Amino acid sequence: MHFLLFESAQAASQKAYELIQEAKFQGAQTFGLATGGTPEQLYAILRSSDIDFSDSYAINLDEYIGLDPTHPQSYAQYMQKNLFSTKPFKATYIPNGSNPDVAAETAAYEKIIEDHPIDLQILGIGTNGHIGFNEPGTPFDSKTSLVDLTASTIQANKRYFESEEEVPTQAYSMGIGTILKAKKIILLAFGSSKAQTIADLFSGNITIDNPASALHHHHDVSILLDPEAALYIKDKLKN
Ligand code: PGA
Repeated sequence: MHFLLFESAQAASQKAYELIQEAKFQGAQTFGLATGGTPEQLYAILRSSDIDFSDSYAINLDEYIGLDPTHPQSYAQYMQKNLFSTKPFKATYIPNGSNPDVAAETAAYEKIIEDHPIDLQILGIGTNGHIGFNEPGTPFDSKTSLVDLTASTIQANKRYFESEEEVPTQAYSMGIGTILKAKKIILLAFGSSKAQTIADLFSGNITIDNPASALHHHHDVSILLDPEAALYIKDKLKN
């Protein structure tokens, strides 16, 4: 696991963009994508670049349960707005949060990923260490499933909704085991609210209480940080 410190979130996002370009140049076809505040700058860079995804596949990490894909706060809409409407892919996949058939939806999503193995996975990280919506306590071999969001995640995400009551309490999420199958992983973490979870990840302590610590089991993970997220580990980083 490589921790890389940048002077700003913008500079870290620029590096993520360059790694995507490099992976594409080396033949990557399928990109695992994340939502939330963290990748917004990366998506802005991609939108204004000349990168062409028309032969690529996009597979997103997660989607809220109970939100129709047309709901403005659905991750389907987030992806349309932030990337897909400007940079069309050959095909894009995101769990259908309005499908009540959990077994069918999760099995279908695993099959999609089996058919299109992820070459490069972009991740954010929750303040509680979640990756995708895999909250603390999730087994490291988990597959795509219906997950209950923790109070801290609901709290963190309420900024996008009119009130806390409107924040969905469940989601479909790619599993930790599914994420670990990606060939290469880039995790972005920005801002002081991520400093403690990044310090925990850096400590090397592997525990299901910290879902991101599962990434220590993967051989190609880059953690791109801004100074605020790197607050407690800055002195220990060489770059
Ligand atoms: P954020 O969320 O990018 O909005 O901080 C990250 C996450 O929950 O994975």
